[in-house]
Amino acid sequence: MQPEPILGGHTALVTGAARGQGRAHAVTLARAGADVVACDLCRQVDTVPYRLAAPEDLEETARLVRAEGRRCLVRIVDAADPAGMERVAREAEAELGGVDVVCANAGVISFGRAWELSEAQWDDVVRINLKGAWATCRAVVPGMIERGRGGSIVLVSSAAGLRGYPGISHYVAAKHGLVGLMRSLAIELAPHRIRVNCVLPGGVRTPMGTAEAMGRWLEAEPEAARALMALLAIDLVEPEDVSAAVVWLASEAARHVTGVALPVDAGVQLR
Ligand SMILES: NC(=O)c1ccc[n+]([C@@H]2O[C@H](COP(=O)([O-])OP(=O)(O)OC[C@H]3O[C@@H](n4cnc5c(N)ncnc54)[C@H](O)[C@@H]3O)[C@@H](O)[C@H]2O)c1
Repeated sequence: MQPEPILGGHTALVTGAARGQGRAHAVTLARAGADVVACDLCRQVDTVPYRLAAPEDLEETARLVRAEGRRCLVRIVDAADPAGMERVAREAEAELGGVDVVCANAGVISFGRAWELSEAQWDDVVRINLKGAWATCRAVVPGMIERGRGGSIVLVSSAAGLRGYPGISHYVAAKHGLVGLMRSLAIELAPHRIRVNCVLPGGVRTPMGTAEAMGRWLEAEPEAARALMALLAIDLVEPEDVSAAVVWLASEAARHVTGVALPVDAGVQLR
């Protein structure tokens, strides 16, 4: 007899699920037994200097989740739109019975020294990365509390969540903000047995991590390039390596782990 998968009977909501790490998290959570609510913006943001995902990308994620034998609710929604995320939470409740695991993964980056950034660059990066995680949690947490089954929330921060990097101060501020949001939520939700943690990836092999604009930034800012080099002898972390941490944090194996900022960065924090 097959053992029960570690997330059997669970439903996981993932934002930014159309590709990259979000797709890997959705598929790995499904492989671990969870039904998935896969959300993505699926359109371009003007200040982002690389292409964001399209609706076909999100459909491909759903196909991969279903190929694991799990249900997948697909929603095109801005993670930083509280009303949109509330609608998704209601639909997840109606169609899949509510959410047990949240992975607030949606994020974008742009580049420029702090005093050279436009207001729109600042607003888009802080809004999507930081407000997006808050709006996602705000939509889903009341249902998690009401169901009384506990749960796990994972906010996707970055190596830039614990240290500064030149040329991306808005992103660094937002990713530090996520660590603060996580620590406060972990305290607020502990009485409800809802654990809240961050994963902090280093450079990851995704369309964001390998974008030409990312390469230009690293050339322009050698200090950032040095501070992003892995200690372990690898080039980039694979999305699935981050997914392994997300699934572990979501599982019973991590039942006493809350309030943690967990780097998955091959040692970048020690540079
Ligand atoms: N790639 C890296 O090197 C790296 C390193 C550290 C942290 N991160 C973080 O990991 C997360 C995933 O990034 P990735 O590398 O997979 O990037 P990616 O660009 O490949 O994927 C991000 C996804 O988020 C979606 N998205 C963007 N804005 C959204 C919004 N407002 N609402 C919903 N979805 C939205 C995009 O359409 C895209 O599908 C991000 O939070 C990013 O900041 C990435």
